Amino acid sequence: MIYLNGHFMPIEEARIPVLDRGFIFGDGVYEVIPVYSRKPFRLADHLQRLQYSLDGIRLQNPHSDDEWRSLVERVIAGNESDDQSLYLHVTRGVAKRDHAFPKGVPPTVFIMSNPLLTPPQELLAAGVAAITANDNRWLRCDIKAISLLPNVLLRQMAIDAGATETLLLREGFMTEGAASNIFLVKNGILLAPPKNHLMLPGITYDVVLELAHGHQIQYEVREISEYEVRTAQEILLTSSTREIMPITLLDGKPVGDGKPGLVFEVLYQLYQNYKLTVMRGAGLKV
Ligand SMILES: Cc1ncc(COP(=O)(O)O)c(C=O)c1O
Repeated sequence: MIYLNGHFMPIEEARIPVLDRGFIFGDGVYEVIPVYSRKPFRLADHLQRLQYSLDGIRLQNPHSDDEWRSLVERVIAGNESDDQSLYLHVTRGVAKRDHAFPKGVPPTVFIMSNPLLTPPQELLAAGVAAITANDNRWLRCDIKAISLLPNVLLRQMAIDAGATETLLLREGFMTEGAASNIFLVKNGILLAPPKNHLMLPGITYDVVLELAHGHQIQYEVREISEYEVRTAQEILLTSSTREIMPITLLDGKPVGDGKPGLVFEVLYQLYQNYKLTVMRGAGLKV
């Protein structure tokens, strides 16, 4: 079951007019929220980032946080899996094609759910391959915009090369992955690029840094050079649906000893434990 503009329905019945600005211009923003045991993970953070993205494209938020919460809860209840990947999307609505914002047009609001498929143990045990590419996206990568054509092309480069993700380099520094945030480990220290307009402020990124902070794992948030990427002991990928994954091959060369490293193992376990405490509703930030 999905939600579209005030109605709940099977996805097969959902229709939007061809003049929707999401379809015509990619004029909208979105969120992907993982749901574990029917509880949305870090929903408050996702709704805060949604507001930031809406502000970034100058679109009024059609709902209060409480309204979003209740819509999200109803979509979760209307789908089979206990673990779900919720996709929430707002566009600037339907109007005659014109770049300028339309006046008095209600936004299109869409929420769907798919079963959440987190990475299988075999993949976590072996790690995945990644390639590097020039980050040729726009300069507002901090907005979670639905216009993802550069990300689509960059991610497909990885798939074509038999890899899982593309690490993006801009002017000698690493920004993020085509659909993920990236961390390195150098001299046993976890390194994270600083949040700015060149990367999406990942919710999983925040969780990883909180876990590192709370468990005395040494970390630094600073710019990361291409050289550091190529000589890293470990490279980690994070996203809401892929959680934390080790990258063990970069541009065909092993990362460190070519196996998932200690920092990955520790963070992965901390993340799983954190998920459990959140699911049990232990009063932590959800
Ligand atoms: C470009 C990009 N960066 C980072 C992320 C990770 O963000 P989050 O941890 O909030 O899923 C994503 C998520 O899909 C993404 O598309």
